[in-house]
Amino acid sequence: MTDIYAVVGNPISHSKSPKIHHSFALQTKQDMLYKAQLIELGKFADKAAKFFKYGGKGMNVTVPFKEDAFRFADQHTERALRAGAVNTLKKLEDGSILADNTDGVGLVRDLMVNHQVKLKDQRILIVGAGGAVRGILQPILEQGPAEVVIANRTVSKAEQLATDFSELGNLSASSFSDVQGSFTVIINGTSASLSGELPPLPLSIFEENSITYDMMYGKGLTVFNQWAKDNGVQKTIDGLGMLVEQAAEAFVLWRGVRPETVKVQKNIRRESL
Ligand code: ATR
Repeated sequence: MTDIYAVVGNPISHSKSPKIHHSFALQTKQDMLYKAQLIELGKFADKAAKFFKYGGKGMNVTVPFKEDAFRFADQHTERALRAGAVNTLKKLEDGSILADNTDGVGLVRDLMVNHQVKLKDQRILIVGAGGAVRGILQPILEQGPAEVVIANRTVSKAEQLATDFSELGNLSASSFSDVQGSFTVIINGTSASLSGELPPLPLSIFEENSITYDMMYGKGLTVFNQWAKDNGVQKTIDGLGMLVEQAAEAFVLWRGVRPETVKVQKNIRRESL
């Protein structure tokens, strides 16, 4: 019997997840159907309960329902508990719902496996302190960086994250203008690029071999990566790889098989950006 999966959000029509999971399913010969479903604001729990009651096996969850999905689930992985928000739900054998957050591990895989970027013993700057950044901190800290600095417009939010994750590594918070020293890896987790804005960071964050990773993506370079390039950064990466890798992690959780992602990423970029 064909297993049913879905991605839900509001809006959802732009989602590339159906295309990605369809490619994974074909490639690994899984008998599954994956569709996008728009959910009205305030209706998540209701709709998710119906989806699973009528045979749904797993769900990806995107903006603005990631916290609702966290509350809806019966069990959580450790990284989901730390993130406080989840992008993946799975119906277990006993009917209970397991929640996971695969965003951070997707980012780490894209950096380390697809781009051979080393995180261990490196100084890493994370720009932003919203939900997206909370979701990536544990998987990054698990790689043993020398230091992680979180810089945010609202410094108190960066401080809160630094406190919440302090036992996992060497973490500190900063305003944009007070960021000290340079970094080998600079990750933009703000939504500033959506409005074409740049966080006012000092140019001293860049060193000869700095790499920037913008969790956003779009046609061409993101505003953040363009700025990095203009200031001498050789390697800039956008978040399309993270999107495909977080999907692959969800696929592994659901189906127990890991799909190949490099070709899928290339196709998605060619077809839809
Ligand atoms: P998300 O789920 O995408 O993380 P969020 O929780 O609303 O969304 O967080 C958005 C992040 O982008 C925050 O770090 C926000 O900074 P504040 O905490 O100061 O609001 C950051 N951000 C959004 N627009 C920005 C801008 N124009 N300049 C700098 N930072 C911006």
